[in-house]
Order: sequence, then C-alpha cells, then structure tokens
Amino acid sequence: MSGRAAGRQAETERLAAEAKRQEAGAEHRAPGAEPDAERKAYFGTKLLEWFREAARDLPWRRTRDPYHIWVSEIMLQQTRVDTVIPYFLRFIERFPTIRDLAEAPEAEVLKMWEGLGYYSRARNLQAAARQVMERHGGAVPADKAAVSALKGVGPYTAGAILSIAFNQPEPAVDGNVMRVLSRFFLLEGDIAKPAVRAGLEDLARDLIPEGEAANFNQALMELGALVCTPRSPGCLTCPVMERCAGRQAGRAHELPVKAKAKPSKPEHRLAALIWGRGEHAGKVLVRQRPKTGLLAGMWELPHVEAPNASIWRSPDAGPDWLAGALAAEGLRVRPVRPVADAEHVFSHLHWHVKVWEADLEGRDVPALSASAGKVFGGVREEGAIDRHDAGGAGPGDAAEADWERDDAPSYRWVGKDEFEKLAWPKMFRTLLSRFFASADAGI
Ligand code: ADE
Repeated sequence: MSGRAAGRQAETERLAAEAKRQEAGAEHRAPGAEPDAERKAYFGTKLLEWFREAARDLPWRRTRDPYHIWVSEIMLQQTRVDTVIPYFLRFIERFPTIRDLAEAPEAEVLKMWEGLGYYSRARNLQAAARQVMERHGGAVPADKAAVSALKGVGPYTAGAILSIAFNQPEPAVDGNVMRVLSRFFLLEGDIAKPAVRAGLEDLARDLIPEGEAANFNQALMELGALVCTPRSPGCLTCPVMERCAGRQAGRAHELPVKAKAKPSKPEHRLAALIWGRGEHAGKVLVRQRPKTGLLAGMWELPHVEAPNASIWRSPDAGPDWLAGALAAEGLRVRPVRPVADAEHVFSHLHWHVKVWEADLEGRDVPALSASAGKVFGGVREEGAIDRHDAGGAGPGDAAEADWERDDAPSYRWVGKDEFEKLAWPKMFRTLLSRFFASADAGI
C-alpha cells in the first residue's frame, strides 16, 4: 500500500471510530440535550465567520424595520427566496407601513399576494397589522408575548421578528434550521413531532452567541438554504464540516428524520367556461369564493366537485354532473366541449380540474340580489349579475335559499382588463389568461 493510500485508510478508520462514538452518544442524547460548551462555541463562531462572507444581499437584509422583516418572513414560509424577492419589493412599495397595510382593502392585499399561495397568510398579516394599530399604536412590539399574540404569528415568526429585527436571543427554527441541527448534532428524532421541534428550539436558543441573535439565526437559515441542502449537502464547502457528526457518520443526507406527511387528498372538479353574449360579449362568467375558508375571497370559474374520477373523466357523465350541480346553485348551463385540464396542489388537497366550455341555458343565471343594490356574499361589484341582468330566476327557484346564505358565491362577468385586476388562484389565472388569449386570436 502506498503511503498516501495508507494515510487515507487511517483517516477513514479514524472518522469511522469517531462516528461510532458520536452515534453511541446520540442514542442516549435526547433531541435538544445540551452539547458541550466548546462544540457550541465552535459552531457559533464558524457559522458567523462564514455568514459575514457568504450572506446573500437580500432586500429584507437591508432593513431593521420589524414590519418589513415580518412581511419577508411570512412570504418566505414555504416559498423560495428568488420567488419572494419581487413580491416583497412590490408589497413594501404598495404598503410601506403597518398603517398602509391595516387600512388597505383586503382585495388589494390579496392581489399583491396573488401567485404566492397560502392566501390565509396574507389575510392574517393584514389582521395582525390592524391589531398592531389598535394595541401598539402601529409599532411592532419587541415583546415575545405581545408579538406571539398577533394573528398568524407562530413560534417561528415570533422568533424571526424578535431576533432579526430586535436582536433578541430567540430561536427561529424552520425546516432549514432543523435540517442543519439534526445533521451537525446527529439527532435522529422525528422532526414532525412537536416534542422534537421543541427540543430543537431549546438547542437553537442555546447556540446563539452573545449579542449575535440576528446574524446567527440568519446564518443558520443561510447554511440550510445554500450548503446543507436537503438532497446533496455541500459538505466540502461547509464551515462546520470538521465537527459535523452527521457527515462523520456518513448520514448527513439521511437526516433529518421526518415521518411522511399524509398524501394530499385528490379531488376531481368540473369547471364551466361560460362566454358572455350581447352586452357581455368577450367576458367570462366568474364567481368570488366565500369570505372564509380555502382561497377565501379569491375569484374563479364556477366549478363543482365530481363524485369520483370516472364520472369526472367521462365525456357524458362528466358534463351531466357539472350541469346538474351548477343548476342546484342556480346556474343553468349546457356543457359543450372540454377545453382544458388543470391541477392545483394545496398542502392537503390536490385538485384535478376539467374545464368544459358551456352555454348559458336561456340566460338563466343566479341572481345576486332581488334589487340591484343589495349586497350578497359581502361584495357588491360593478357588473355583478343581478336579477335585472339575468332576467330569469325568480322566487321559488330551487337554489334561492342557497344564494341567500352569507357565504353564497358572488357572480360577475369579467373581461380581460378587469380580470387582470382581480385576485385569482394561480391555476385559474393561468387558465383564464389562456382563454382570453385564444379568444383574442379567434381560436
Ligand atoms: N428563509 C426564512 N427566512 C429567511 C431569511 N431571513 N433570509 C433568507 N432565507 C430565509
């Protein structure tokens, strides 16, 4: 064996022996149990040194305004940095202060959020901005209990605001941070378990070097985003690689342990694309979702859930079902031809949507109000279909009771220009853009 090969073998044996020791230790170490002080100091020092050099220049890192940092942290939950940047800049330009956000119409906030998904976050953010106006005179509180009491602010967001904006030694443990800590300390607890997360929060708090909460927490996030990535961690460029127990055990890529989430539930939905005629020529009939629940307040094509995938797929049963279910809502249509398939994936649901172009039957459309001025679904929009417009459905109609409910959908004819101004779930925005473009092209 050459000298070099012998050296490599000795190093491999040394690493294996150390990994074994580490692994034996890890078996007895509860997640979050305190690592030794020297190891903690090493981790903090190395990470901060690295961050000084490697930190990306991100717009929310150029400010200490707690409101701006808060907005960025909400947007960054489950959305990539590259995607967030333009949204963040537009949002802050439109709502530069908490007061601007608190006083804005909700529809405008949703519009600025359109495409980011998780729209309840935008609504919660605005509700929290109103709470900050009422309770704290418009200043984000630098107090853990007060900030945690705001709508939509959980332990991660509270920790991020307190540490990044106020340099308070609070942990901000997201998925990236859990991955880094699980690997460095070779922690094998299931991070889907609240107790394991709580242990990691204790550990992350313990690791914060004195006076460095803002930089340290961001450095941890940055390491997780840039180096200690989920599938192929860049251990060779990692600033704490020398003492990373996960790497030494050859297990970095397997960590963290996370029980599989329940698969999202498939739902098969049938939608109607209804083009207006006469005074509504060039416009499409759309509806606004109820003010609460999934995609609250956003606009969409009228659609219904099919009872199963085979009815959804069937060229006969599908349109029959669509016509029947919409008729129960007061919208009488005759599906003519399928024009598109689309999907929308939520965290817990997976919509498969088949769109049928459909004709309105006898101009019989759901009435929004018995008189033109009455508000249904909380919204009275210009151009909303009402009974005068529809000239059809009257008292005694089977769906009347439904329309009278508070959460009844609000229907409206929209043309291309107006379409651009409303907030749509991504799938419907894509579909309608395409439909309007085809109509323009005369297809
Ligand atoms: N992910 C979550 N928070 C972040 C931040 N402040 N910077 C970069 N990525 C992040």
